[in-house]
Amino acid sequence: MRSSGLYASLLLVTFAFCFAAEQPALKDVFADQFLIGAAVNDHQMQGRAPEETALVVRQFNTITPENVLKWEAVHPQPDKYDFAAADRFVEFGEKNDMFIVGHTLVWHSQTPRWVFEDADGKPLTRDALLARLKDHIATIMGRYKGRIGGWDVVNEAVEDDGSLRKTKWLDGIGDDYIAKAFEFARQADPDAKLYYNDYNMYKLEHAKGVAKLIRSLQEKGIRVDGIGIQGHWGLDYPSMDELNAALAVFAELKVPLMITEMDITVLPSASRNRGADISQSAELRKELNPYSDGLPEEMQQKLAARYGELFKVLVQHADLFERVTFWGVQDGNSWRNNWPVRGRTDYPLLFDRQCKPKPAFDAVVKAAQERK
Ligand code: GLA
Repeated sequence: MRSSGLYASLLLVTFAFCFAAEQPALKDVFADQFLIGAAVNDHQMQGRAPEETALVVRQFNTITPENVLKWEAVHPQPDKYDFAAADRFVEFGEKNDMFIVGHTLVWHSQTPRWVFEDADGKPLTRDALLARLKDHIATIMGRYKGRIGGWDVVNEAVEDDGSLRKTKWLDGIGDDYIAKAFEFARQADPDAKLYYNDYNMYKLEHAKGVAKLIRSLQEKGIRVDGIGIQGHWGLDYPSMDELNAALAVFAELKVPLMITEMDITVLPSASRNRGADISQSAELRKELNPYSDGLPEEMQQKLAARYGELFKVLVQHADLFERVTFWGVQDGNSWRNNWPVRGRTDYPLLFDRQCKPKPAFDAVVKAAQERK
């Protein structure tokens, strides 16, 4: 009798402890503000990282594919589409009742060279390139019609000075390639939301260039349903002033905004050492990869404070934002570990490599709760 009483109270204590320790779900915390999501990879979709997959289901209500819908992955050769991974991604989102984002239809990167060339390797004519673009968009959006809710139609078309980026799309088609892409996308799935997505959007000239582009599309009668601010940020950029100024530029357009690829690097800038192989030099390793053995508590707190202040702004402007998506689930997934230098150890997300919430997670939850 006595021992069963003891057993029962132990159970109760354990239950209370687990319950208290249970982390809140971001999708609940932000439920009346914006959707909250993560970019997922095929490893997760195949069930090979069950803890990560469980975390996605528990925490998020929207997903974006990190790579599997990029041109090189889904349409590797002129007559070959490969939908296996994209199908897994979409099925996962549907099974878990999530808002599914498609990423991305038109981009200068991760797009094979053949896209711009004819069978002899000569540049395609404008008409031929337009036809190829239309076919690509119709095929992919057509397959997921009514299932993928919103698409990054064009990614990264504007430079920091506000001009159109010099890409093979611009070369081959001309300035109206963006308008055409939106037209083709609207035809392919009239009910899907169509977005423009870009980085460095906190730089004022860049933001103004994007605003000009969106306005010119609107003047042509083309509806843009959202502007994606990627959000690949650092501990000291953007400043709050820069962010607020850019948001003011976008707010005038009356188009919903989203943070589409959020991560915050804690590593020193390596733009001078782009492409360096740090395994070759101890000096470079020390300079560029200072936290390979773990993130010191002080940096952990800095990252948390940074996430806290950024989310405070996002929450303040929740009426402008439709969605916030992190670019990866846990720190080990992040492209930041490998760019612009391979093999570093970064800590840019809310969950550590064991899928445990970091102080940054608590700071984000707190930012949401303070508003309420
Ligand atoms: C850009 C793209 C993303 C991704 C990141 C780095 O932001 O939009 O798809 O490639 O770069 O991973």
